[in-house]
Amino acid sequence: MSEIRTIGVTTGGGDCPGLNAVIRAVTRSAILQHGWRVIGIPDGFDGVIFPERSFELTLASVSNILSWGGTILGTTNRGNPFQYKEERDGQTILHDVSAEVIENSAKMGIDALVIIGGDGTQKIALEFHRRGLKVVGVPKTIDNDLSATEVTFGFDTALHTATDALDKLFTTAESHHRVMVLEVMGRDAGWIALESGLAGGAQVILIPEIPFNIDNVCRCIAEREQSGYRFTIAVVAEGLKLPPELQAMAEQEGRSGRAGQVGNTIGDAIARVSGKEVRVTVLGHLQRGGSPSPFDRILSTRFGVAAVDLLAQGCFGHMVCLRSGDIHSVPIADAVGVMKVVDPQGRMVRTARAIGVCFGDK
Ligand code: F6P
Repeated sequence: MSEIRTIGVTTGGGDCPGLNAVIRAVTRSAILQHGWRVIGIPDGFDGVIFPERSFELTLASVSNILSWGGTILGTTNRGNPFQYKEERDGQTILHDVSAEVIENSAKMGIDALVIIGGDGTQKIALEFHRRGLKVVGVPKTIDNDLSATEVTFGFDTALHTATDALDKLFTTAESHHRVMVLEVMGRDAGWIALESGLAGGAQVILIPEIPFNIDNVCRCIAEREQSGYRFTIAVVAEGLKLPPELQAMAEQEGRSGRAGQVGNTIGDAIARVSGKEVRVTVLGHLQRGGSPSPFDRILSTRFGVAAVDLLAQGCFGHMVCLRSGDIHSVPIADAVGVMKVVDPQGRMVRTARAIGVCFGDK
């Protein structure tokens, strides 16, 4: 058992729906079950680099936040204390302020930390654990690409947003006999594209895990036309790897072929090859915002309570996770750096193929 009187909680990396639900669960469970004091650390580790920015979290301060998107603590994906960016004389300098974080945590009376974040943030958590800080991790990302956990909170809400967008695109696509392309987030993993595509009834789904070719996509559109369907919905993952000819086309048009632009490149290529009228929607950060779904609120609450349990048991350096629907934990060292991507031969892809979804590979 560990001697803890005060804990700190922080959110790092990109935000996602459910962060506030975790903060609430950590705070409530720490206070109600253990009588601990809880310090909210703003903007990743900035709140320990600049301790005056941190503040106490009470039952009152976390009331009503369960349904809020974002994070009341703020976050940053540029706040790695081991490579902290500072502007000096107009130049960006990287320096290691990790010793300050450790020293200031002690000065602030923080005995242990709950670190909520994705792969990058958990790597930072691991480094602090190795330097003696008592930490536990809570995984988050809308991308659902962390291998140690079946699901991350935020993913379900992002799926709802993307599916809702597809439902809306459907009616306008059908009315105008158009091809509608929806670019969704997910970094290098195709989970959001695959699952929203299935939920939204898309006929074409292009994901980074399955190499595609635009002629195959256009053949699928033509076959639909022949069987009387004059519209097509295509979901495109932002991390798609473009074949060389499309990469060259993207560059010619001044696009990088990267996230936020890949959907437009696919749209242009479909229009050129198929002669169909195409419209492109890039869903972007809408997927990261809004109120968490009931599933995400519950998962966040379970993760938050489990993180406090880990601290109470002295199980430092571990991260909570979901396995077969149950809450477990794994050493952070085993959890980081291993991405979970879509298995092109897996059941989800086979299910989609069985109902006629085209992945552009044949
Ligand atoms: O990892 C979450 C995510 O939303 C990705 O899906 C996306 O590629 C990225 O973050 C966007 O990051 P930023 O908010 O820094 O543009």
